Amino acid sequence: MRATIWNSLPLFLQLLLQFTVLSLSKPPPLPLPPPLPVLPVPTASQLKWQRREIIMFYHFGVNTFTNSEWGTGHESPLIFNPTALNTSQWITAATAAGVSLVILTAKHHDGFCLWPSRYTHHSVAHSPWMDGNGDVVRDFVTAASSSGTDVGLYLSPWDRHDRTYGHDVAYNEHYLGQLYELLTNYGKISEIWFDGAKGANATNMTYNFQDWFGMTKQLQGSINIFSDAGPDLRWVGDETGAAGETSWSLINRTRLRIGDASLESYLIAGDPRGADWVPPECDVSIRPGWFWHEDEKPKPLNQLLDIYYKSVGRNCVLLLNVPPNKTGLVSDGDIQRLREFRLAIDTIFNHDIAGGSVVKASSERGGKWGAFTANNVADGEAGTYWTPAKEEKKGGFWIELRGLNPRSKFNVVRIEEAIWMGQRIRRHRVYVDGHVVVRNGTTVGHKRLYRLRRPVAARRVRIRILKSRGPPLLSALGLHFDPYG
Ligand SMILES: *[C@@H]1O[C@H](CO)[C@@H](O)[C@H](O)[C@H]1NC(C)=O
Ligand SMILES: *[C@@H]1O[C@H](CO)[C@@H](O)[C@H](O)[C@H]1NC(C)=O
Ligand SMILES: *[C@@H]1O[C@H](CO)[C@@H](O)[C@H](O)[C@H]1NC(C)=O
Ligand SMILES: *[C@@H]1O[C@H](CO)[C@@H](O)[C@H](O)[C@H]1NC(C)=O
Ligand SMILES: *[C@@H]1O[C@H](CO)[C@@H](O)[C@H](O)[C@H]1NC(C)=O
Ligand SMILES: *[C@@H]1O[C@H](CO)[C@@H](O)[C@H](O)[C@H]1NC(C)=O
Repeated sequence: MRATIWNSLPLFLQLLLQFTVLSLSKPPPLPLPPPLPVLPVPTASQLKWQRREIIMFYHFGVNTFTNSEWGTGHESPLIFNPTALNTSQWITAATAAGVSLVILTAKHHDGFCLWPSRYTHHSVAHSPWMDGNGDVVRDFVTAASSSGTDVGLYLSPWDRHDRTYGHDVAYNEHYLGQLYELLTNYGKISEIWFDGAKGANATNMTYNFQDWFGMTKQLQGSINIFSDAGPDLRWVGDETGAAGETSWSLINRTRLRIGDASLESYLIAGDPRGADWVPPECDVSIRPGWFWHEDEKPKPLNQLLDIYYKSVGRNCVLLLNVPPNKTGLVSDGDIQRLREFRLAIDTIFNHDIAGGSVVKASSERGGKWGAFTANNVADGEAGTYWTPAKEEKKGGFWIELRGLNPRSKFNVVRIEEAIWMGQRIRRHRVYVDGHVVVRNGTTVGHKRLYRLRRPVAARRVRIRILKSRGPPLLSALGLHFDPYG
């Protein structure tokens, strides 16, 4: 019956109907996939570390009791006697600052071990603390894990106590023995900290870093190894907590040597042509010293905020040291300062004036229905990003926040790259209502923060990207008001 009706239709009508049905059932165009990464890219562990932004260091040991920064190695273990050591209270300090990774000096240059190492008598096992039955590393790891905080350890290569120090084979064996204890008896270790410090006495002492790194990775597959030369995280080149204005996560590892001071400027800036992803970590103490001293006080809030802008705001992770005192507790004043620090960061960054604003760009990969639109920088999602359609000819790429509320003042500009696809931006400029506020911006990386001289209100904020390794990928562009300045 239906066939008869169909056949009775004129041929042109049959064709027209067929064409209409076909074009209506045509599947929608497929979305464009993400562009290619620009190598090198971070590992999963490096990316996780970078997103922590602030991590914490605890310097604790015989120096805490001798009021010194560098012990001699000749201290009696009997001086180590904290009367109310409570590592859970230390972790309270970390959570007050919103920190998810804490690192302990398991052994400092004095060689005194905070765990009962079987390879030395210079340890808690020979101290009066808990009648020699204590283990600070164990307590620390237990307290951290019960609050969901990850753990890292520092095992000083320089050891001013051990008699094998200065004898290459014997000391490297000793060191590996201790490293093995730390990496096998305490569960998951997320970061291990190595430095190149050596006794003036023992410049001949060779640290077999490759042996140490190899064993570390074998025992802790997802660990990040920190040293002057990586392999996973590098020292930023100073102990003031400040990264350089130019701050690449890329560097050539083959050029680095642990403990070589002539490399400082290379360490600070990194290398846009670097073949390896080794991001910088900024270590600084909340107090003047690394160890606790009765007469020292924590840095004022505005100094901590300045450090935050110069570290986290320059593509770094801030490793902030908070030294427990002689009682075995973090001093109340330090915890109070950490709370103020966290509150200040949240006050500044929890409110984004750019959130939900209209965003335009020089072009968008996949067009305005694609997955890489300009709006992605203001959607509050860390995983989405804007990327342009193709290489622009003149003036480079740009992206602009429009229709901002001219009554909402801001004095901080935040730019973030989708670094999991490679760090790309080499040169950029920031405009507020057409006026340049940042003329010679270089790198962006995970996070770039600019503090403006005074609060401004504007309708438009534009970022121009003048030079980039491949097309830029911006995951966020935020505007904030910092009332602490
Ligand atoms: C240790 O510190 C935690 C956190 O501040 C506290 O809840 C706990 O009561 C303390 N333990 C002792 C034995 O004082
Ligand atoms: C140098 O080494 C010797 C012997 O190893 C040691 O007794 C002395 O204390 C060391 N000096 C310093 C300054 O470390
Ligand atoms: C260091 O090495 C030099 C040259 O190899 C040697 O003469 C010197 O005795 C060594 N010093 C020590 C403390 O081993
Ligand atoms: C780093 O390595 C790359 C690739 O081998 C090279 O092009 C670049 O010049 C190196 N950088 C330095 C500072 O040597
Ligand atoms: C260590 O800090 C705790 C907590 O603030 C405090 O009660 C204690 O007196 C401090 N100990 C010293 C020696 O300052
Ligand atoms: C920015 O770069 C220009 C040249 O491009 C230079 O004249 C100027 O001094 C630089 N400004 C700053 C603040 O570095």
